[in-house]
This record gives sequence, C-alpha cells and structure tokens, in this order.
Amino acid sequence: MGLKIEIRDMGAIQMRDEDVKRDFANHVQDGLSARPRWLSSKYIYDAEGSKLFEQIMALPEYYLTRAEYSILEQRSADIAKRLPDWADFDVIEFGAGDGTKTRLLLAELLKQRRFRYLPVDISEQALKDIQLNFSNWLPELDLVPQQAEYFAALDSLKSNGRPKLVLFLGSNIGNFSTEQTLDFLRQLYALLSPGDCLLTGFDLKKEPQRILAAYHDSKGVTQEFNRNLLHRINRELGGDFNPEHFEFFPSYHPETGEMRAYLVSTCSQDVYIETLGEVFHFEAWDAIHTEISRKYTLPRIEELAAKSGFELAEHFLDSQGDFVDSLWQVKSA
Ligand code: AVJ
Repeated sequence: MGLKIEIRDMGAIQMRDEDVKRDFANHVQDGLSARPRWLSSKYIYDAEGSKLFEQIMALPEYYLTRAEYSILEQRSADIAKRLPDWADFDVIEFGAGDGTKTRLLLAELLKQRRFRYLPVDISEQALKDIQLNFSNWLPELDLVPQQAEYFAALDSLKSNGRPKLVLFLGSNIGNFSTEQTLDFLRQLYALLSPGDCLLTGFDLKKEPQRILAAYHDSKGVTQEFNRNLLHRINRELGGDFNPEHFEFFPSYHPETGEMRAYLVSTCSQDVYIETLGEVFHFEAWDAIHTEISRKYTLPRIEELAAKSGFELAEHFLDSQGDFVDSLWQVKSA
C-alpha cells in the first residue's frame, strides 16, 4: 500500500530497503516461533537466491521452464489471436524474471498490435536487468517499469482506461496456499475491468517421480536454494545458523498436488538471531516448512477461474502436456 511507483533517489530506496528488512525480521520472528515452524519462500529470492534459481532453471530435472518456453515459442501467435481486438493496451507482468520467456510473446505481439509493456517488481535491480535485456532484444518495445508491489502497481494503473493483459507466468502461482490462491485471483479481478485478460502459468500433475525429481536434483542446487533462507537470516539479521545442520527434504503429495519443501534440523541446536535478540531452539529432526509448489489439473484450473470471476478463453499446453499457460478473461458485464 502507498508504495511509490517511480522512485529514483537513493534516500527513498534506502527507506525501502529498511522496510523490506523490517518485514523480513518480523516474518522470521513469527515463522520460527510458530508450530509448525515455517519461512515463506518469497524471502529466498534475494540476489543470491535469484542466482540459485537461475541454476535450477538450467537443471535437466527441472522441466517447468523449458515446458513453458516451448509453449510461448510455439503458441504465441495463437495466444495473440485470442486477445480481444483492442486498438492499444497494457501488458502488465508480475515477476518477469529476466524476460527470456516473455520476450517470445512480446515479439509476436509487436508484429501485429500496439501496446505498452509494464514489468512489475519490487527490486530496482531486477527492473534494470529487464530494461537492458529488452533494449537489446526488442528496441522498439514501449517498456514502462513499475517498481512496486504487484497490486499497488495494478491499482495505480486501474484508472488509465487502457485494456489490460496481466501475465503471471512460471508457475509462480503454485507457491500460494489454497486460500492465498483464491485471494490473489479475487484481488486481481477487483483491479481489472470487463474484457481484461490474465495469462497464468500452471504446472500440471504428472508422474509423481518426475515431479519429485524436479525438486530433488542430483547436484543439490535446490537444497542450497532453500538454505539461502538461513544464509539470508545470517547476512541480514545477524543469525548464527549453520545451514549444513539443516537438511533439505522435499515431498510430493499426489492428492493435493502439493510439492512441499522442508529444512530439517539434523541435531539438537540453538540458533541466535542478533536483530531479534532471541535464541531459537531446535530438537533433532524438527522441521521448518519453506516452500509449496502446487500442481494442477485442467478442471481444477477452470474451477479457480469460475470462483474468482474469470472466464476461460483457452488453455495453451506444451506438446508433452506438462505445463499450461491458461488465458482467462474478466466476464463482460
Ligand atoms: C519459481 C516458484 C516457480 O516452485 O517450481 C524451483 C521455485 N523451488 N525449485 C517452483 C522452485 C524449487 C519455482 N517457482
């Protein structure tokens, strides 16, 4: 709420860093005091965590990124054709990453349509990287970065009267709990207008062993990615975690479609966190829940669309049926 959209002076950025740090400290305090213990995966993605996620995307076991890339490579023209016949519009992306996949869709749209591209991210560095990449890839693209929380950015654009296509790719929606998922979609719906569209990337249920393997890679990158939460507590909050005394344990639940990740204490240990002025005790084999990566079926996705006020336009799947980019539209009044 109330975050400025275009902050460029250092004073303001400093303030934001402090807000982010306070928010992180509060979360760690709550999460490590709660039973069961948990830490939100959204805090994995600092500079270190984002680098580790790039390594994950390149792993042979991690099929998600390649599957979605192939959808956008092969179906972007079909996706473009499915959009309403708008004269001009805004493409708003939540969590654009480096833009590698989005580029495929935007390149196709540029051939036939007039639009602006507004990547939304809280990190100024992430937006700078995107800007640099697109200035090389698609110099003619009208790119307007939005440094803000997702809904703050969307709220500030709500009244501009331009039709909207919101992109939420990469199975990022899978990180939410069931309640958070519907909450998120309903909030989104409330900030859009009849006719506006949403393209969301969902990972699909499949052979459980393949799903488990994607999150239990042989090189241990995913373990390091999750342990980054502990490293970040050490770096930013003066913690004295020994991350090697927390073992990564992923588990897939085929009923709920939840891939769940844990960091499990391998011994009885005390951890002191200076900023919180508190010692946290772990018995051997106590667990911290760190991540959900939810897998879907097409009927479940359609149910979500209906429950949040959207209408399914079309599912775009990769040729193996591993992943879907699902295009929805806000029902016309
Ligand atoms: C970036 C949330 C889509 O859940 O698949 C990858 C993060 N975690 N391996 C996912 C992740 C472990 C990823 N998302």
